[in-house]
Amino acid sequence: KPPKIVVTRAIAEPAMKVLHEAGEVWAPDPDRKLPPGELHEVVAGADGVVSTLQDRIDGAFADAAGANLRVVSTVAVGYDNVDLPALGAREVILTNTPGVLTDATADLTFGLLLAVTRRLGAGERLLRARRPWEFNLGFMLGTGLQGKSLGIVGLGQIGTAVARRARAFGMRIHYTGRGRAAPELEAELDARFLSMESLLGTADMVSLHCPLTPRTRHLIDAGALAAMKPGAFLVNTTRGPVVDERALADALEGGVIAGAALDVFEREPEVEPRLLELDNVALAPHLGSATVETRTEMALLAARNVASVLAGNGPLTEVRP
Ligand code: GLV
Ligand code: GLV
Repeated sequence: KPPKIVVTRAIAEPAMKVLHEAGEVWAPDPDRKLPPGELHEVVAGADGVVSTLQDRIDGAFADAAGANLRVVSTVAVGYDNVDLPALGAREVILTNTPGVLTDATADLTFGLLLAVTRRLGAGERLLRARRPWEFNLGFMLGTGLQGKSLGIVGLGQIGTAVARRARAFGMRIHYTGRGRAAPELEAELDARFLSMESLLGTADMVSLHCPLTPRTRHLIDAGALAAMKPGAFLVNTTRGPVVDERALADALEGGVIAGAALDVFEREPEVEPRLLELDNVALAPHLGSATVETRTEMALLAARNVASVLAGNGPLTEVRP
């Protein structure tokens, strides 16, 4: 009997092809959103599941799938929606999609950094409001990136890709994280390792690239924001809860920092309403990996992980505790 594979959300066609060759596939109607209560129903009897960060993957989920479940493949690099010990206890493998979304996410990070420092959103709002304007030497001045320091929190794959882009823009790289990067990488980026406290106190721009964990939840709180330079900008393209969004709104309203650019939100899809009123905030609706090319690569990698596990060949990109 072919294994049962459940896809919780519509994924790119080339990935579906891989899955159809690996087993019997149940996929949702692409025009219909899966109501939260139905997730447990649709995974019943699955051997493998392709899921997304919209799905809560925990012990109850695994139990709803049943004893045949061998692999859950999340189409994402972040897996804070997954209770990894609960899967481990049931000998279920978790795979994610590292690497294939690194460049897309780094590009979007830079797009947002430029948007907030060069006031692109504010400028577009002015034009769309059909307000009068004319070029003059003092009009809508922003902040340049050249010669500024970028403080990277989490120099992993995405943080490194952002640092490489920043070097091309003439920025200096500071970073912090759980440990030092490889000496070759530090040398390539001319990157300085700092404590979180020193990084916040010295960086002209701070970009967050750490995963969301209990340790990084509200890493950027009122105290961290107060430790930043008054002219500094904050960029978040990792996970919303890494930033205390209300504290951020307070800091932006009070001029504690100069601006913020956010692709992710603490209570997605809600956005702290005060942020929507501020002109020094650039916003995107969680678009970090949202290119056709990247989403296809992510879905393909997720599908290949499921196919490989179900064929007895083991996972390609397993998340290990
Ligand atoms: C998206 O946010 C991801 O983690 O891949
Ligand atoms: C993602 O792959 C990261 O390590 O930042």
